[in-house]
Amino acid sequence: MALLKILNYPDKRLHKVAKPVAVVDDRIRKLVADMAETMYAAPAVGLAATQVDVHERVIVIDVSDAHDELLVFINPEIVWSSDAKKKWEEGCLSVPGIYDYVERPDKVRVKALNEKETFELDCDGLLAVCIQHEMDHLLGKVFIEYLSTLKQTRIRGKMKKLEKAL
Ligand code: NI
Repeated sequence: MALLKILNYPDKRLHKVAKPVAVVDDRIRKLVADMAETMYAAPAVGLAATQVDVHERVIVIDVSDAHDELLVFINPEIVWSSDAKKKWEEGCLSVPGIYDYVERPDKVRVKALNEKETFELDCDGLLAVCIQHEMDHLLGKVFIEYLSTLKQTRIRGKMKKLEKAL
């Protein structure tokens, strides 16, 4: 396994749209293992392939307290979402140090593949927020794009300073 380099906003590669995975083969299994290792090392509750500059529809998530319940979503689709919405404070490994509120459907049902099978999962709470946040990454969207233009400009400035400092 290997730790993968995470792209930081405003890197343009974060806006690429990921392609569906054609075959779950050893290459994809290695990607999943490396993404999981990178997520746990961060530590973070979710990571999308886009963030490690792989533009295929793969997500790893673990919202458990013990960090021992890895969820793998390959080619995820939201098949149902609740009318009820909720605001959560979100953060992102690609936008370090920035947290802000985003409103999203409270509950979603997701259909996806993992390394073994197709499954459907009802998601609520943090898991619902996380899967929607990560699926946005696969569409080339970073959570701060939900914020006001003023906030986005400020964040971009902060991130560019941070990049120079590194
Ligand atoms: Ni993120």
